[in-house]
Amino acid sequence: MKQDENLIGSEGREQWGSRFGFIMAAAGSAIGLGNIWKFPYIAGNNGGGAFVLVYLVILFSIAVPVLLAEMTIGRHGQKNPVGAFKALAKNQSWKWVGAIGVISGFLILAFYSVVAGWTLSYIAKSVTGSLVGLDPKELEGSFVAVLTGSFEPIFWHLVVMVSTVAIVIGGVQAGIERWSKILMPALFVIIILLVLRSVTLEGAMAGVSFYLKPDFSELTGKGILEALGHSFFTLSLGMGTMITYGSYLSKKEKLPQAVASVALMDTGIALLAGLAIFPAVFAFGLAPDKGPGLVFITLPAVFNQMPLGQLFSSLFFGLLAVAALTSAISMLEVVVAYFVDEQKWSRMKASIFSGAVIFVLGVPAAMANGPLAEFTIFGRNYFDFLDYITATIMLPLGGLLTCIFLGYVWGADKALKEVTNDNTIQFKLASVWIGLLKYLAPVGIILVLAKGLGIFD
Ligand code: PHE
Repeated sequence: MKQDENLIGSEGREQWGSRFGFIMAAAGSAIGLGNIWKFPYIAGNNGGGAFVLVYLVILFSIAVPVLLAEMTIGRHGQKNPVGAFKALAKNQSWKWVGAIGVISGFLILAFYSVVAGWTLSYIAKSVTGSLVGLDPKELEGSFVAVLTGSFEPIFWHLVVMVSTVAIVIGGVQAGIERWSKILMPALFVIIILLVLRSVTLEGAMAGVSFYLKPDFSELTGKGILEALGHSFFTLSLGMGTMITYGSYLSKKEKLPQAVASVALMDTGIALLAGLAIFPAVFAFGLAPDKGPGLVFITLPAVFNQMPLGQLFSSLFFGLLAVAALTSAISMLEVVVAYFVDEQKWSRMKASIFSGAVIFVLGVPAAMANGPLAEFTIFGRNYFDFLDYITATIMLPLGGLLTCIFLGYVWGADKALKEVTNDNTIQFKLASVWIGLLKYLAPVGIILVLAKGLGIFD
């Protein structure tokens, strides 16, 4: 009975089947390559503990308020990002903020899917044992071979896109929610096993202290801004993902609680990923600042020196692929929701069309480090260019405009009415939230943008 009531919202819009399902789906979007692949390596590049601390402060003071803003706009608008801004604003130009989001969805998924494909290739390598016994130099060669190949990266990119489309076709409840409910808890279990293995290695404590003991001499202004940019990427903010997911949320659910759970889980997984990686890196005398290769080069070296290494390696890359897939789903859902709501397409048509376009957009990204390495746009190869214009420019821009929209255009009163379910629940941090959104967050985001555009170094 309750289930049936929840299925269809006020205007017949499909909704999440349960609060748990929604939280798992939103956490699935947030937790991805950003947490497990990117966060540990940027922490490693920026000296460890101090970066982690600054990142946490920024995450909770700037990014989390924006997360609540997006979910609030989404639930009130009951639409994809373009439709939500159209519904909430008198001035129709605001729909372009949503449109930036939809375009970002196309562009981010095109290269994100390629990285997700590398993780699939590493599952295959782990399961077949082809990484076993290789020394770090050989492992580097093996990663470079994946990176620079032409057929292999495209093949795995195709596998990722087909899987993503298949799940999104299933829709909100049957597709996204059902998968996230199984996959996200599995992820927690696997990563906790990895942490236990890692911290009990001999010599692991040096890594634990590198990671958790702040040494502020290593932290630069650039590092702080990197922390800010990453806080957006990791919570899937600035492109309307959380507006879209919020739009499937019932009016009865409590938004502040949902936001707190998602933010804590996302942070928990990122911190655990670092705790799985750094102690092991130090225990085996490897370098913590290996950059993007940290996961793909350093960890297999670590696995090779562990009992049951092949099993742990398979589990780890399986986990990374799962995390990447649930994020990829959320990017595609933004685009699909736009076509379904605004263009009245069927979910099937929207999913297949968008998936196909994104696959094509991603093919040059899959070849960008190999056959297309010479092809550059503004001095960057195609892959780095997509990453740069989306993560560095479009997401912060979308986030900034979202803050301004909620704080100054739609208005704090209406937003608070939505957040408190028409004043039926308490939200103690209401004025803090509005204050952060109107003042601190916009200033912080403008700093990231200024950095991204090279206004200061
Ligand atoms: N949050 C995801 C991650 O950490 C990436 C993402 C960005 C997903 C933007 C959706 C939208 O990997």
